[in-house]
Amino acid sequence: MSSGTEFKGQVAIITGGASGLGAAIAARLASDAMHVVLADTDEERGQSVADDLREAGLGADYETCDVTQEGEVAALVDSVVERQGTLNHLICSAAIETRASLLDTSNDDWQRILDVNLKGPFLCMKHAIPAIANGGGGSVVLLGSVLGFIGQPGYSAYSASKGALANLMKQAAIENAAAGVRVNLVSPSATDTGLFMKMAEATGNPEAIIDMVTRNSPMRRLGTSQEVSDTVAFLCSPGAAYISGAVIPLDGAMAARRIV
Ligand SMILES: NC(=O)c1ccc[n+]([C@@H]2O[C@H](COP(=O)([O-])OP(=O)(O)OC[C@H]3O[C@@H](n4cnc5c(N)ncnc54)[C@H](O)[C@@H]3O)[C@@H](O)[C@H]2O)c1
Repeated sequence: MSSGTEFKGQVAIITGGASGLGAAIAARLASDAMHVVLADTDEERGQSVADDLREAGLGADYETCDVTQEGEVAALVDSVVERQGTLNHLICSAAIETRASLLDTSNDDWQRILDVNLKGPFLCMKHAIPAIANGGGGSVVLLGSVLGFIGQPGYSAYSASKGALANLMKQAAIENAAAGVRVNLVSPSATDTGLFMKMAEATGNPEAIIDMVTRNSPMRRLGTSQEVSDTVAFLCSPGAAYISGAVIPLDGAMAARRIV
């Protein structure tokens, strides 16, 4: 882990920070001296990730927050600003998926996925953006997915939530640009951590799933959590000062490809 000071004095909330890409992003930002607040519903894992970062000498806290509950999101932002004195960045990584075709998606699953994956980032931006603006501006990074831009059988609710999230990002970017808050969305394909690996392992034959996915990928490999984390760190940095309203693909050219 690097030990830079690029983000010294800055504070980020990372939803979904207890697992997968959220935890990797937290470690990456903290390694450059950002104070990271992991917000998740999985208290045990979230506390453990924050403990590991603190033991490595980095700045990290965990706070339980269900991103679908407006009161919990508002309380999270208030408590971070009160304890840390500022809020500079919001990373929305919390998400869920179920595998079901449109015809097989239950009403409850549809609502649950849209609530976590779309309403969650809406509520987080609604409450965090004013605090970020008050602190002089900063960056919001939403975790989208290549499935927000291309279809894949079995992901109708997830794909719909991620497609809508891209447009919500654009709205947030144009409405808050003058306040100094940049909003972008990174769009990974299958990576070596988190939801994809959980899905692959749940099939009982993860190697076969990884082989199928990598064979169909233009770069013939999975993305890495390091690649996602480095891109999020760049979007939080001064080098990205004029980048807002953008979808950054992290998919090895997958969404660019047309299969004949
Ligand atoms: N891992 C991949 O291959 C991949 C690919 C494309 C996009 N993504 C996106 O990246 C992001 C991170 O995914 P991941 O793979 O790390 O998943 P993950 O399952 O490892 O982590 C998601 C985290 O979100 C938390 N969470 C779920 N519901 C919540 C809620 N209501 N409130 C607060 N926290 C909640 C979970 O407890 C978990 O810690 C997601 O937005 C996902 O859609 C991941």
